[in-house]
Amino acid sequence: MLVGLKEILAMAEEGSYAIPAFNVYNMETVMGVMQAAEEKRAPVIMQVYSRLFTQGGAKFLAPVILTAAHSASVPVCFHIDHGAGKNEIMRAFRYGCSSVMIDASAMEYEDNVRLTKEIVELAAANGMEVEGELGHVGSVNDSSMDEFTVPKDAKDYVEKTGVAALAVLVGTAHGRYKKPPKLDIRRIADIKGATNLPLVLHGGSGIPDEQIVASIEAGIRKINFGTDLCYAFLDTVFEVSRDIYAIDLFMKEPIAGVKNFAVTKMELLGAAGKV
Ligand code: 13P
Repeated sequence: MLVGLKEILAMAEEGSYAIPAFNVYNMETVMGVMQAAEEKRAPVIMQVYSRLFTQGGAKFLAPVILTAAHSASVPVCFHIDHGAGKNEIMRAFRYGCSSVMIDASAMEYEDNVRLTKEIVELAAANGMEVEGELGHVGSVNDSSMDEFTVPKDAKDYVEKTGVAALAVLVGTAHGRYKKPPKLDIRRIADIKGATNLPLVLHGGSGIPDEQIVASIEAGIRKINFGTDLCYAFLDTVFEVSRDIYAIDLFMKEPIAGVKNFAVTKMELLGAAGKV
């Protein structure tokens, strides 16, 4: 069933685990994630990068995700990831997302607050809640990281914007790490204490398992996986025999690759068996 952000994160909060949020790109990645969620009885978030809403791909992908969510026997949240601005958010509403993220983390603090608050109001009018970001989570290719999220700023941001979930900068980045990241677990616990809100960890690919577990103990309730899901799909594509040309048959193994990847994360995050 299709559910909203607050509802799915409340499950994680109550059970002290984290919901895996997988970035999906096409029908096959949706199918792999869905098979894993059904088999593992796990609530799941399927999210789509903002650029697919900018460039048009989300229009075709959204019906696939909605079909999966409506026919699922586990809770599925359909989320726009790193919503770049009002246009993308409006498209997310139109294409049937059940949840939105606005990422104004690269803006000045007051501008981030202003835009995020505006999106929270628009989303509320559409019956939805919002993930905001404070402390810009960049790419592994950036030469330096921004200042980590400050707990008292997070409290102020949450109070002023009304977000339902907060993405924080605590040592992760998007992409394949050149060396394993070192998360500031203490800071996660402090932000959790200051905000009492479900916290979101971006850049989930490649974080050592023990740090994932510690981050959940400290208050992380949603963990994003993008890059490693892509590789789970693409690595398998390159292994399939070129003698298979019927695309549905060719895609069986890549779908299984995504499913197997999603299963390991559902188990690691403690989401498996929660439905
Ligand atoms: P990775 O691609 O590093 O897993 O990050 C995904 C993410 O955080 C999407 O918002």
